[in-house]
Amino acid sequence: MVHHYHYVIVLLLLFFTSISSHQHHDHDHDPSIISTMEQFSGYSILEPTSFSSLSYDAQALQNQIDELSGFSDAPAPSVTRVLYTDKDVLARRYVKNLMGIAGLSVREDAVGNIFGRWDGSEPGLAAVATGSHIDAIPYSGKYDGVVGVLGAVEAISVLKRSGFKPKRSLEVILFTSEEPTRFGISCLGSRLLAGSENLANSLKTITDSQNVSFLDAARSAGYARDEDDLSSVFLKKGTYSAFIELHIEQGPILEDEGISIGIVTAIAAPASLRVEFEGNGGHAGAVLMPNRNDAGLAASELALAVEKHVLESGSVDTVGTVGILQLHPGAINSIPSKSHIEIDTRDIDEERRNQVIEKIHETAIRITKTRGVKLTEFHIINQDPPALSDEAVVNAMETATKELNLTSKLMISRAYHDSLFMARVSPMGMIFIPCYKGYSHKPEEFASIKDMSNGVKVLAFTLAKLSLQ
Ligand code: GLV
Ligand code: MN
Ligand code: MN
Repeated sequence: MVHHYHYVIVLLLLFFTSISSHQHHDHDHDPSIISTMEQFSGYSILEPTSFSSLSYDAQALQNQIDELSGFSDAPAPSVTRVLYTDKDVLARRYVKNLMGIAGLSVREDAVGNIFGRWDGSEPGLAAVATGSHIDAIPYSGKYDGVVGVLGAVEAISVLKRSGFKPKRSLEVILFTSEEPTRFGISCLGSRLLAGSENLANSLKTITDSQNVSFLDAARSAGYARDEDDLSSVFLKKGTYSAFIELHIEQGPILEDEGISIGIVTAIAAPASLRVEFEGNGGHAGAVLMPNRNDAGLAASELALAVEKHVLESGSVDTVGTVGILQLHPGAINSIPSKSHIEIDTRDIDEERRNQVIEKIHETAIRITKTRGVKLTEFHIINQDPPALSDEAVVNAMETATKELNLTSKLMISRAYHDSLFMARVSPMGMIFIPCYKGYSHKPEEFASIKDMSNGVKVLAFTLAKLSLQ
């Protein structure tokens, strides 16, 4: 960081010194030069020497990522950190502590979205926000989401150490439950921030697989003290002038092409479904094959149909996954009487994804006829549209990568992120960094210190620029 930053600043200084020397003799002390430089560079130029103190602590970030990965219900290198569990609460405490050390004022809302704020010189203006999540799906890795939270705190610390003074306030957001693991709802915190009335209502009655209600779980973690309070989470219009999320790519493109930074232009449209079949069950030896209506085979047939319908779209951009398939009673010598399957399907083309959902529904109904089972549930949990990044935010990120002499590429995010929902209430942009072989949602997930440093630098520059606009 110090190198590039110095280089840029030295060039800027030479540039402005040479221009201004034609106009002023005592330019060293002319405040208008300072303010012109501020406009050009996007940074608060106090005095040239203050930039020498700019430092980026890459090793500290890595240490924090390693420490945070210790708050896990799975043995290392796997990470399992599920919403409102003891490990999640400890991890949250760890992040709040880091926010405090960075000098941010910390606030939490009713579902546990955490905000760390650095007041700008004009705190009444809409703030510039950044952030991501720290929950981790079962047996996953330590970088997904975490880089965008700890990296954001570090980006702000970098700016503070440089002597930069934001005009708009800067905020780091830790979003509650980006992952759908516990209650089946993805991007729970950001979906609610974006004002989803449906979600605010359903959270009052929803339970997890152990029959623990959302509200009880939230209260056990210290949140949701007032049941009717969940709409208090909704963001007021114009709270943020921009939102930027730093994240690992979770795909192989940047690494394959040797590019440092991905600038996200759009996020693909995700959907998820819950389907349940019921049959008569019975004894695995005594009930003969013609007399069965096996709910497990109904679910298996539907799982294969998901793959078929996705492939029928003819586009590599259409994907579908059955990640959950549960049978009841789950005994080797009992014909499944109930089955439960959860389906994730996505596309950059919303219409095409909706056609896949329609076909899955038709097939589920056909299976009830051919197998004599009941379709006791066909529930579309979420069916979200895609989101587009904001042009001005994209431009700011591109300028930042250029100033830092980093290679970059415009790309689509096939994974979903809290940014998908923040885009509903704020201009949005995302910064991707390469990750090893594109691995994610598994323990082999890895991002190098160098790539994370690049991401944090681009984030810091972008925040700085947007905070002055
Ligand atoms: C996010 O975790 C996703 O599944 O895209
Ligand atoms: Mn994830
Ligand atoms: Mn993520």
